[in-house]
Amino acid sequence: MASISSPSAGNILACASALKRGELVAFPTETVFGLGAAVDQPEAVRNIFRAKGRPSEHPLIAHVAPGASLQGWVREVTPAMQKLMDAFWPGPLTLVVPKGECMPLEVTGGQDSVGIRCPSHPVAIELLKATGVPVAAPSANRFGKVSPTRASHVLAELGDRIPCILDGEIPQVGIESTILSLLSDPPALLRPGAITADQISLVLGRAVTPHSEMLKDPGASPRVSGALEKHYSPDAKVCILQADLLPKTILSGKVMLVGWSDEFLTQAHWLRTRFSDILVEALPNQPSEVARVLYATLRQADELGCQQLVFEQPPVTGQWEAVADRLKRASA
Ligand code: TXA
Ligand code: MG
Repeated sequence: MASISSPSAGNILACASALKRGELVAFPTETVFGLGAAVDQPEAVRNIFRAKGRPSEHPLIAHVAPGASLQGWVREVTPAMQKLMDAFWPGPLTLVVPKGECMPLEVTGGQDSVGIRCPSHPVAIELLKATGVPVAAPSANRFGKVSPTRASHVLAELGDRIPCILDGEIPQVGIESTILSLLSDPPALLRPGAITADQISLVLGRAVTPHSEMLKDPGASPRVSGALEKHYSPDAKVCILQADLLPKTILSGKVMLVGWSDEFLTQAHWLRTRFSDILVEALPNQPSEVARVLYATLRQADELGCQQLVFEQPPVTGQWEAVADRLKRASA
């Protein structure tokens, strides 16, 4: 059974040594907890797939420390890549680029491209610096399940399969990084996240192919598991509703209503006065705040034994795109 280690300097060094010996270490990032293996330990990388129950052709993201040399890990740092690194690293942006000769195919799912990102979480940064090579890490959950944003979530899902979970401050972003592919022209948004398409376009000085376009052609990114239609799923049945439809909805069993607008919350509180077994969770009316607690809320509904989880429909704006994307998948 795994133990949760506090992020003391000594524990971080011990975890870095474990990674270098070929063990798996779960660690916090600013997005979600990752399940890490040093990229130069192919057996450890293969163990990630075993622990998660994830198909081995799904590529992993390689995490690097701020300022670490990318030589050998990516084919080249193009001017566009450099601009994006300068603007958004360390932070929740993964760049898919041609891989370098040292990046093993185990990490890239056999592809000649690699997803690379530099996280901003202080514990992740210290761990990466001490490890000295990139660390491949998917989210530290079982395949298809909700990504973990607490060490306790990792323990509950993977505790029987991995030796060590490094703790740290709660992820500030709360949902997985934005993934941008620089393989195509224009670059394409493979997964929406806290860094929006507009922010990226501004830095590049050109439009990028929006995620909605990529969805129309699923063949374009078959290997993005976060792009599978059903993903991030709790056990409770998730549905997404506009505030005005709430009173007309059939609710059955124990239900959690989660919203942020006055309109939705007013309806939700009214429903609670009429029916027993309704819980209302009011979130701050900000996409970044909703993202931060989204996965913990999905898990909480399961812990409380809710059969149904009703989320407010997010507005259709770039700011809300990532939250809307994760909710859609959770409800699929
Ligand atoms: O925020 C995050 O990105 C978190 C933390 C731990 O860093 N990691 C994460 O990893 O979400 P994971 O494995 O759950 O999702 C990574 C996604 C996958 O859907 C994978 O298919 C995609 O990145 N990806 C990685 N390399 C790729 C490549 N070469 N081409 C296309 N997609 C790639
Ligand atoms: Mg994942």
